Amino acid sequence: MNAMEKYIGRYEIIQQIGEGGMATVYRARDTRLEREVAIKVIRSDQALSEKFLLRFEREAKALAKLNHPNIVRIYDYGEHEGRPYLVMDYLSGGTLRQKMGHPMPYTQAAGWLAPIARALEYAHRMGIVHRDIKPSNVLLSDDGRPMLGDFGVAKLLESEELIKLTKTGMGIGTPEYMSPEQCYGENIDHRSDIYSLGIVLYECVVGCKPFSADSPMEVMVKQASEPPVPPRTLLPELPQHVEEIILRAIQKRAEQRFQNMGVFAAALESLILPLPEDLNEVTLTDRDLSEEEIEQLKAESRAGEASHEAFETMDDEQGVALEKPTASFVTGLRSALGQDKSRRILLIVGSIWALIMLAMLIIGGTVLITWGVVELAHYLRAGSVW
Ligand SMILES: Nc1ncnc2c1ncn2[C@@H]1O[C@H](COP(=O)(O)OP(=O)(O)OP(=O)(O)O)[C@@H](O)[C@H]1O
Ligand SMILES: [Mg+2]
Repeated sequence: MNAMEKYIGRYEIIQQIGEGGMATVYRARDTRLEREVAIKVIRSDQALSEKFLLRFEREAKALAKLNHPNIVRIYDYGEHEGRPYLVMDYLSGGTLRQKMGHPMPYTQAAGWLAPIARALEYAHRMGIVHRDIKPSNVLLSDDGRPMLGDFGVAKLLESEELIKLTKTGMGIGTPEYMSPEQCYGENIDHRSDIYSLGIVLYECVVGCKPFSADSPMEVMVKQASEPPVPPRTLLPELPQHVEEIILRAIQKRAEQRFQNMGVFAAALESLILPLPEDLNEVTLTDRDLSEEEIEQLKAESRAGEASHEAFETMDDEQGVALEKPTASFVTGLRSALGQDKSRRILLIVGSIWALIMLAMLIIGGTVLITWGVVELAHYLRAGSVW
């Protein structure tokens, strides 16, 4: 659209907010519903192509099927002077891309990516593979909630659609985040998204991409054949289990990765939960919470710990979580005593001390009473003799 244009359909353009490979994104106001929206308009040179029109329509339809708190909602789509557009949630918090560029604490990275993994788990269950997971497609709401956008490259898994789309031969994706099977141009499944999300996790935690080069082709060759530098080689202080999660997600062979997004999501959640300080603070100081809410927080924390322990016992071949019989007892005990280690030690030492004092009191009291009774008996006996 040119600089003088103010409206796209009923949407009043406020400003341009970004530009991607195939579209320009505007912040706009829906004049009918009186709310802010984002409009993604296909650039005119590309919009003329039938291929892009189809791609765009598919994006709209695939998105319209999805209803999840961490997936950008689509409200409308249409065509303006031959250019198709998508109307969606306006997210004012920027993108994950802007938060990256330096190593971030793995708990924070997991905090951003666990909800995205859950959103993908949901999309996968709906038969939709995203195919273009990357930091610029993780948008943030004003209160910092991560939202997955751009299912524009997603395609329906139904075999008919799959065959049809494969025939169109569209190479979709961003080389730095593409799975080896995407690079080879092979058929892909949900495990390709697991790989791409693993690359994003690597980049968040380590501060740089595992595979980069001067040309997209070189990146794809590395992606398909070169082993990644293990995160702990670059960040020795990173816990081993975090490295294991990252490397598991970005295995070259899909069969060696997490076998479904739910297991990857649980692994990510295990890195953020439990939230020891937060939980204790809430329990001790936040008097506005009802007993019910506090119990719910505790239950969530226990569930988080259980999922971590279940992940640790995961069967390598199947990607299936096996329950540890002791897990619930240990997690129950831990949550009963509080999640902070030093608090737990203090509580235990304090309790032992209190027990010793109580025992001494009881023994002292018993001795005193016995002595008193004996003395009284002596006194009475002496009295009766007199
Ligand atoms: N719903 C939205 N709300 C707010 N900003 C958005 C929204 N969607 C996209 N943006 C912004 O617009 C930019 C361009 O988005 P777009 O999806 O067109 O490209 P991209 O994801 O950056 O790259 P590519 O086209 O290669 O996928 C994003 O980087 C983001 O900053
Ligand atoms: Mg995008």
